[in-house]
Amino acid sequence: MAIASTAVRELLQELTLEEKVQLVNGAVDPEGTATGYVPGVERLGIPEFRLADGPMGVRAGEKQATAFPASIALSATFDPKLARKQGAAMGREAKARNQDAVLGPGLNLIRAPHCGRNFEYYSEDPVVTSAFAEEAVSGLQSENVVATPKHYVANNQETKRASIDVDVSERALRECYLPGFKAAVDAGAGSVMTAYNSVNGDFMSDHRQLVTDVLKDEWGFEGYVVSDWFGTVSTVGAANGGLDLEMPGITREELWKMFGMDVDDADDGQVLAETAEVPEGMPDPSNTEQFTEPLVDAVRSGAIPEERVDDMVVRILRQMKRIGLFDDSRDDGQIKDANHRTLAETIAARGTVLLKNEDILPLDDDADIAVLGPGVREAKTGGGGSSELEPLHVVATADGIRERTTGDATVERGIPEIEQISFFGGNEDDEDDAEPEPSLDAAIDAAANTEVAIVVVQDAATEAKDRESLRLPGQQDKLVEEVAAVNDNTVVVVQSSGPVEMPWKADVSAVLESWYPGQSDGDALASVLFGDVDAGGRLPVTFAREDDYPTAGSDTTFPGEDGEVQYAEGLFVGYRHFDATDADPIYPFGHGLSYADFAYRSVEVVDERQVQVTVENTSDCDGREVVQAYVRAPETDDDRPIRELAGFESVRAPAGESVTVAIELDDLAFSRYDETEGWINLDGPFEVEVGRSAQDVRLGTTL
Ligand code: BGC
Repeated sequence: MAIASTAVRELLQELTLEEKVQLVNGAVDPEGTATGYVPGVERLGIPEFRLADGPMGVRAGEKQATAFPASIALSATFDPKLARKQGAAMGREAKARNQDAVLGPGLNLIRAPHCGRNFEYYSEDPVVTSAFAEEAVSGLQSENVVATPKHYVANNQETKRASIDVDVSERALRECYLPGFKAAVDAGAGSVMTAYNSVNGDFMSDHRQLVTDVLKDEWGFEGYVVSDWFGTVSTVGAANGGLDLEMPGITREELWKMFGMDVDDADDGQVLAETAEVPEGMPDPSNTEQFTEPLVDAVRSGAIPEERVDDMVVRILRQMKRIGLFDDSRDDGQIKDANHRTLAETIAARGTVLLKNEDILPLDDDADIAVLGPGVREAKTGGGGSSELEPLHVVATADGIRERTTGDATVERGIPEIEQISFFGGNEDDEDDAEPEPSLDAAIDAAANTEVAIVVVQDAATEAKDRESLRLPGQQDKLVEEVAAVNDNTVVVVQSSGPVEMPWKADVSAVLESWYPGQSDGDALASVLFGDVDAGGRLPVTFAREDDYPTAGSDTTFPGEDGEVQYAEGLFVGYRHFDATDADPIYPFGHGLSYADFAYRSVEVVDERQVQVTVENTSDCDGREVVQAYVRAPETDDDRPIRELAGFESVRAPAGESVTVAIELDDLAFSRYDETEGWINLDGPFEVEVGRSAQDVRLGTTL
């Protein structure tokens, strides 16, 4: 059992078994703002506790909050310090909205390019994921809220996410899927959320080996483990496996009532499925009330030791205490919304990746522009699902560009809007009756009669559903082709949850990937297009043709067959796969251009885990470079990727100047996990390859 402070221990002694159970099972928030709610125990002064969704902002009912860019846009900055700032901002906003825990960051590795929630995750690479995990958790918790890294573990797809069994080797778990969570725990995360899926036969809510043995005992996690919503599949298995808090804790009657139905009229699984239009990925709503009376009964019958329930309570109380819920003087989060707005814009701009640029960007201040695309009259604030929120200050894509240019700007959708799935109505577009029907002819006409045509295209990803294809939905590819045919200065801006195919890539002059840029969409995009900010983003995920990913080719590897998905690629996720095969990506992991030019001058070994790299900005504009260090281990193991990213650093270099940057190299690249012996340090010598992407190595040295 975890060690409790005296105050927490004293409280524990006062609690009856029923009161303890009341603290480990969620309830409906009487204020209606929280996603999850623990009522506390009034008799003993144990306060209420509210959990609000993240990870891209605080969803507190109808209370507005800053809609930060998608997590994948944040990681595209390759600058984890920004994750810390965003975390702190979200922490302040959570507190000011009376929330105590934020349900994020999302730390699942991007394994399948189709996964509907890739926009909520960071990367296909464990070192990038870990670096962002650490700073996001530290930032959030610096403001005295509880961070909740999720979904532990191997929730890498949405198709059948609540029932699928993931068949994955322990080695791949240790080397790819777990490191992000370990980094979050090392950063002091107060909570971890279990995934819906099962792993190697056991549901994560009940997974004693991964929850108790690895997370708690091996990593020393002292916080509480919370289930995903409707994701606790048993009472005894979950409690003895190490789960500490069941969510949502709503009764079946209440749930059915929420959807305007009588419980007698509904079958399990039916209500949520029908309402959300995404049955394949919806959890089974009958998974509730595991940690209520059945928990009391199981303790009384001896099936669960009461010490286990004490441990659950202690873990929760300890977090309440840590964030000051027992102190009268707890500060309520001073929000400077204006600062958060600026931060959201900075991250969106810095996460924008310049994939291609044939001397067209940055634009002149007085460029005449046609802004075209089905969603240009709105901001792409996010994807569908639990991350949706009410944004505070929204700048539509076209508005930012219109504001910024001193030339003419015409705006046309060209084709009908792409349907976005929304769980809460937060992403629904405002119906504008005055707006004419989109006309492809009008868009082509506008493109033909202007200097620069900017076509903004997007996908429509959502929780509980995977994307069916990596092609852009609707007629968007056609729109791009037709615009490019009439205007040689065509710039495509992609707003996507992850990789998309770009069949028109060779026909356009520039391509920018701006993910889901959040509430500052138009402002952030304009600042990159006009060069107010260097395009500092790099791809945290490989862009390739659908059939070339390691998950392609067989249903058994994605999205699974007969209830099971096999991670047959082992460690060869993302760029590691493309390094080992002949398939060329569309754009490799780590790729992204800058408005400046960089020459790599030298790499020096500082010690076993650090190199120093000097890059020179040889251009006449200030710029930002992301220096990446990949490590090749000696070829002693066929199952090992050819090289692995070991460290990276985003660095600003003024025009004409050289900068030297120290890059820490992660232990992961120098070790391997053996299922019987545990972690084994590899023998060198190691090649360190330094460069601009996984496929653009500029310098090398040996360690
Ligand atoms: C999602 C979680 C989310 C929870 C509460 C679940 O369906 O998987 O990420 O935090 O709902 O909204």
